Amino acid sequence: MSTPNEPAKPSASAGSAAASLSQVTIATPAEHDGDEPSEDTISSRGRKAKRAKEAKDAKQQERDNDGIGPTGRPYREIPDPPPLDRHGPALVMAMCNQKGGVGKTTSTINLGAALAECGRRVLLVDFDPQGALSVGLGIQPHELDQTVYNVIMERSVSITDVIRKTRVDGVDLLPSNIDLSAAEVQLVAEVGREHTLLRVLRPVMNDYDYVLVDCQPSLGLLTVNALTAADGVIIPLECEFFSLRGVALLIDTIEKVQERLNPKLDITGILATMYDPRTLHSKEVMARVVEAFGDTVFDTVINRTVRFPETTVAGEPITTWAPKSAGAAAYRALAREVIAR
Ligand SMILES: Nc1ncnc2c1ncn2[C@@H]1O[C@H](COP(=O)(O)OP(=O)(O)OP(=O)(O)O)[C@@H](O)[C@H]1O
Ligand SMILES: [Mg+2]
Repeated sequence: MSTPNEPAKPSASAGSAAASLSQVTIATPAEHDGDEPSEDTISSRGRKAKRAKEAKDAKQQERDNDGIGPTGRPYREIPDPPPLDRHGPALVMAMCNQKGGVGKTTSTINLGAALAECGRRVLLVDFDPQGALSVGLGIQPHELDQTVYNVIMERSVSITDVIRKTRVDGVDLLPSNIDLSAAEVQLVAEVGREHTLLRVLRPVMNDYDYVLVDCQPSLGLLTVNALTAADGVIIPLECEFFSLRGVALLIDTIEKVQERLNPKLDITGILATMYDPRTLHSKEVMARVVEAFGDTVFDTVINRTVRFPETTVAGEPITTWAPKSAGAAAYRALAREVIAR
């Protein structure tokens, strides 16, 4: 795989995007099934109308583009996911990028929920001591007695005792909390330290069709464990100037794990996230990503929308929080692509 170059121009929008995310208004589910946040003031109604018009323009542009997607390529034909008459053995996917805040956790939750809507049984593994995946599924990590940490560090703790059901049918969670931060150091002294996650997942592999591992933003031993256990890697990449920085190092790590620890490891796909169809900047970054990674880039692109931060607060996936939103549709399309790959 070639080493990607960075886009030529720096982003002017990262700061303002962060600022707009911090102004999110949280609404009740009943109010919310579109793509826009509910806001009550007259000025916010004006903003809402403006955004609705912009969204409409973007959709019109998509139609004018004659079936060409945001990747600049025509959408590929994706077959309907075949129904399953039995479950397992699971394919393990590591959701990985050492850059922080690129949509790893959001994509793990929503891809997991969308795969479950296709009749797949899904285990989500929170492999980040921040516990954001657990929070995003409505679980308070500090209240947990046992987490993935106990499963990997204590041989007496069985994975089935720690896995819990979520509010989403077909989606289970192996939760995490800050305890996991100690594992990075403690694992160093273990025999077969890179294979620890693979070893603990083995007993449940036949219960699931997909195991999605939400990695922390680093390339340390926990991430190497996720890559060693994985069949595929999904790399969420923010459509932003600095997003390609560091990807070469990530690819290098994936190749080393493939050579030394896990020959079956493959890059399942690159997922462009936080895409803004109205900005030239997003389009330029997208073009660079497709130039560097070609067909590995999923046709599905996740747009930037405040619906995602809202779902984190709600503690559920967008597919149930706002089932008719464009964000939900995008993760459903991604699930179809993942099943087809
Ligand atoms: N498509 C999107 N549009 C707007 N906001 C988003 C989108 N995807 C994720 N977010 C928000 O961006 C923030 C970071 O997302 P997320 O936690 O999924 O990233 P991450 O890569 O897991 O971060 P970390 O590296 O810290 O684990 C969250 O507040 C999330 O709600
Ligand atoms: Mg995360």
